[in-house]
Amino acid sequence: MNIVRVIAADFRGERLRSVRAFVGPRRDPTDRKRIKTYVRGFDDILASGIPEGYIVLVSGAPGTMKSSLAFSILYQNALQEGRKSAYFTLEQSKDITLEHMASLGMADPKAWEHLTLLDMGNIRKNLNYLQGRGTWLELFKMYCNNVMKASRISILVVDSLDVLETMAKMQDPRADLYFLFEWLRDLGPLTFLVSEKPVDLGPTSHAPAEAYLADGIVQLEMHPTSDLYVQRRLRVTKMRSTKHDPGAFALSFEDGGFEVTRAVTGPS
Ligand SMILES: Nc1ncnc2c1ncn2[C@@H]1O[C@H](COP(=O)(O)OP(=O)(O)O)[C@@H](O)[C@H]1O
Ligand SMILES: [Mg+2]
Repeated sequence: MNIVRVIAADFRGERLRSVRAFVGPRRDPTDRKRIKTYVRGFDDILASGIPEGYIVLVSGAPGTMKSSLAFSILYQNALQEGRKSAYFTLEQSKDITLEHMASLGMADPKAWEHLTLLDMGNIRKNLNYLQGRGTWLELFKMYCNNVMKASRISILVVDSLDVLETMAKMQDPRADLYFLFEWLRDLGPLTFLVSEKPVDLGPTSHAPAEAYLADGIVQLEMHPTSDLYVQRRLRVTKMRSTKHDPGAFALSFEDGGFEVTRAVTGPS
């Protein structure tokens, strides 16, 4: 009887092993390692960070600090972990971006060793390269590929997706965005796409295609708490494979770092 059991167990084990060999190792999305945001209080809300390789929209009106927040995630990861990142600024020049980040206290040269900053100027200088040989989007992809080849970057910021869509003259945004997202997923880094388009996912709203395609959505807003006061707020509307609090948090920036705390109504 014992021998039968041993043989049966062995057979099951062998079968399991051969099935595993066929389908490869178990790939559970929740097994992905997470990248910390280093925003005080935010990583706890996100079950210790954002999964590697995700595509996350950072959306909000102008002035809600989307660019500053995205940059601070790269900056802190570079400073604390030596993690390599690239920031593609399409809305403003590299110099203005650097100036703004320095004014926010993010100018430690130790972090800069790990950050690559690219701007429209880089692309414009190479527009001649296009001359019937490819599209603006292809050139953008070529830059991203080159950055990835030069150093294994694990975080990429595209600021903004709105300008990318305009410059790429997307004829069929739904299909074009789908392929762009597929391409970014193959490229590999955790990608933050900054956008000023409203991404309300309510039942009667018409959310843009990127809201459905993205793995996560972080919304920033200015919330009037009285006729005199406005509070900066952050909300995680979506984060796949993450049990997160979808409520609003107050977002503040002090001493070179962001912090989120539970939002309360009333003057702040
Ligand atoms: N030193 C500072 N401390 C806190 N907030 C600042 C500081 N400098 C600028 N800001 C705020 O940052 C905003 C711009 O941030 P930015 O990240 O460019 O916004 P967005 O990308 O959403 O348009 C400004 O409108 C201002 O309110
Ligand atoms: Mg911006």
